[in-house]
Amino acid sequence: MTKPYIIAPSILSADFARLGEEVTKVIDAGADFIHFDVMDNHYVPNLTFGPMVCKAIKPYCKNALIDVHLMIIPVDSMINEFAKAGADIIVFHPEASLHVHRSLNLIKDQGLKAGLAINPGTPLSYIEANINQIDMILLMSVNPGFGGQSFIPGIIEKIHQTRILIDKSGRDIILEVDGGIKIDNIADVVRAGANAFVMGSAIFNTPDYSQTISNLRNTLAKT
Ligand code: DX5
Ligand code: ZN
Repeated sequence: MTKPYIIAPSILSADFARLGEEVTKVIDAGADFIHFDVMDNHYVPNLTFGPMVCKAIKPYCKNALIDVHLMIIPVDSMINEFAKAGADIIVFHPEASLHVHRSLNLIKDQGLKAGLAINPGTPLSYIEANINQIDMILLMSVNPGFGGQSFIPGIIEKIHQTRILIDKSGRDIILEVDGGIKIDNIADVVRAGANAFVMGSAIFNTPDYSQTISNLRNTLAKT
């Protein structure tokens, strides 16, 4: 049965020295996606991991999809590398690509789901212009670069607007929100129209991932 809501733990807040074990634990706890935050100290002021680490965690991901969030510039040269490394979904920031349509095509040509990531200061016109090519929209509710930041309240209205665009398109597009989501604001995020939730610190900084994810699902079910 397809779950109506997608929980996507970001391994940015996991223990990097025990990454395989962390991925196993969070998947056994009920994660749907493994959110993989790629940062290059150029597009964002931080540096994380690349395709080699994606390939290393792939065998631990079981049925969970690897949701690669590229915060890198340029984009195109890395798409093939992440496809080979086992990515299932690749999302990039349109400002980081000179030719957004071409980058989306490169992802689709690999047989993967493609998406655009929209920063708090980025207009939704990028979504309108590319809606027929995308499978997922990642709306940032913090400025990209770091885990553990606070949710920007104004993004709730942007989620509403994005939901309207998706419904108008008639296409089956995942609306994922990323940054500062916690047990006490996830209800607002789902009510605004999101159906996928990236969470780093709110999952990995808790002692029992199963308990945390089941609390989140209970909150979603009651909303
Ligand atoms: C930030 C990343 C997020 C981040 C979310 O640039 O894209 O995925 O890990 O972390 P939390 O849930 O702690 O805000
Ligand atoms: Zn992310």
